[in-house]
Amino acid sequence: MPKFQIAVLISGNGSNLQAIIDAANDPSYPAEVAIVISNRPDAYGVKRAEKAGIKTVVIDHKNYETRADFEVELQSQLTKQAIDLVCLAGFMRVLNAEFVELWRDKMINIHPSLLPAYKGLNTFQRAIDDGVRFAGCTVHYVVPEMDAGPIIMQAVVPIQQNDTKDTLATKIQQQEHKMYPAALSMIAKEKIKLINQKVKFDEVIEQSEILISPKI
Ligand code: GRF
Repeated sequence: MPKFQIAVLISGNGSNLQAIIDAANDPSYPAEVAIVISNRPDAYGVKRAEKAGIKTVVIDHKNYETRADFEVELQSQLTKQAIDLVCLAGFMRVLNAEFVELWRDKMINIHPSLLPAYKGLNTFQRAIDDGVRFAGCTVHYVVPEMDAGPIIMQAVVPIQQNDTKDTLATKIQQQEHKMYPAALSMIAKEKIKLINQKVKFDEVIEQSEILISPKI
């Protein structure tokens, strides 16, 4: 069976990209990274993709006068590759609603909080400052509103007394690296459906496949 073709969009370190690349190295993994696109030439993720021998394209947003011009180029690169799903992985550009609509139900993102709490930036410090007991991360479909859209998977990370934003970030990223490849695999295997803007899982799915929660 041909593998599900994905594009990964990055702006920085690319540790989630690396987790996807590593998962896709297993011959039984149902998806393949067809292209990595970065809007920053110096993103470390570009090196990771090149090292893995994946087609890598830099579309430096600074070279485009408008967001729409940048997105024309982005769309042209994506359509050249016959992409099934776009995965945003630390991609730090806001996308216009018109572009998001082109990829409606075919674009996912990972965000470092338990959405809908803590949309936006600086999620770890904000959670610590609020004294909440649990933080985590979310994989969700992308809709025009930022950090919204149907939730696919979430992982919970308890916040401990001595956690700082950096220790919490490390713990959350460890969960991200498990969760993103797992969510992607589930989409590629058609184990989930979007019904009325909510994600529904196959009835035969084990709860342990979709709920990532801490052992207390
Ligand atoms: C991750 O924490 C992700 O949740 C957020 O951006 C970060 C990207 O990290 N959207 P990396 O580039 O994958 O290391």
